[in-house]
Amino acid sequence: MNIVVLCGGLSMERDVSITGGTLIAQALRECGHNVVLIDSFFGYMEPYDSPSDVFTREQKIETVLVGEKEPDLEAVKRSRIQEGNSILGSNVLEICAAADITFFALHGEEGENGKLQATFDVHGIKYTGSGYLGSALAMNKSLTKELLARAGILTPAGITVYPGQAPYGDVGFPCVVKPCSGGSSVGTSIVSSRSEYDAALDLAFKYERAVIVEQYIKGRELTVAVIDGEALPVIEIIPKEGFYDYKNKYQAGLTTELCPAPISEEMTARIKRLSVKVSDVLMIDAYSRVDFLLDDKGDLYCLEANTLPGMTPTSLVPQMARCSGISYGELCEKLIEVSLKKYE
Ligand SMILES: Nc1ncnc2c1ncn2[C@@H]1O[C@H](COP(=O)(O)OP(=O)(O)O)[C@@H](O)[C@H]1O
Ligand SMILES: [Mg+2]
Repeated sequence: MNIVVLCGGLSMERDVSITGGTLIAQALRECGHNVVLIDSFFGYMEPYDSPSDVFTREQKIETVLVGEKEPDLEAVKRSRIQEGNSILGSNVLEICAAADITFFALHGEEGENGKLQATFDVHGIKYTGSGYLGSALAMNKSLTKELLARAGILTPAGITVYPGQAPYGDVGFPCVVKPCSGGSSVGTSIVSSRSEYDAALDLAFKYERAVIVEQYIKGRELTVAVIDGEALPVIEIIPKEGFYDYKNKYQAGLTTELCPAPISEEMTARIKRLSVKVSDVLMIDAYSRVDFLLDDKGDLYCLEANTLPGMTPTSLVPQMARCSGISYGELCEKLIEVSLKKYE
């Protein structure tokens, strides 16, 4: 197949996306595909006669690991030669239209929230992962909460607040403060006092106007991927220090991931069943990863669903796949295969 792997983009998870994108592109090449890796924000700047030419060109792809801190997007914006406000760089749509499919290695706002999915739909371009609606619903933690609650799925009690309207004490302490449409724990804080609350709001509002304040659930952190309606093995996530924040997510060795999670068969089955229900309720297509917290009373809270979950060396879906005997390359091909079903 001729495949574009689209990565980078203009979101706080840009670096995570580039790391995943390079690995996906390398793996798909090893599987025998013609692959071009393109940064969706910077585009493809080398001249070509026909867009299909770029798939068979030499392109060196080197893996870069994720840094400890999220990227400076203002600096990224300044470094682009192409002018204008488009979040898509030059020639991206034209080259993607010439591919058999575009693999979305993107994460976060610009890439995972449905806008790009809708744009590609309008242009009749095939891509991996959910369509625009599921992407938009799952990206928005406030809408996710409402839809899950309506379907009888437990989520931490919480409210959505806006600048100047963030009442103190409604949720109680400890609580979690996080941007409504964030990812990779960027801007997320666990708060146990008034002064921490104010600082956490200041931080979260740096990223977004809508912020979730929700009850802190003390418990075990579990996550599971759903691919084409079937759950993979469940992972338990145990950060060595603190919570599962940006650093603990992407710096190797800071978090222990147990796969399969050491939980009972009944609990495993319950989580798998629930994860499929969550992805149905949120209208997710093809695949996703659903995050849970399990407290010591046995209550299972759904935190969120990720429509384009991470594919870095420390990421969870590749580990779940490995646990069921599926290599990274096979996983990438499987994600393409199930994504193409959207177009049948
Ligand atoms: N209500 C909560 N109680 C306890 N921990 C939480 C809660 N919400 C988030 N967290 C912690 O923050 C991390 C990121 O939160 P999550 O809602 O999954 O957002 P995202 O992964 O999109 O940044 C979780 O993996 C968990 O460690
Ligand atoms: Mg999460």
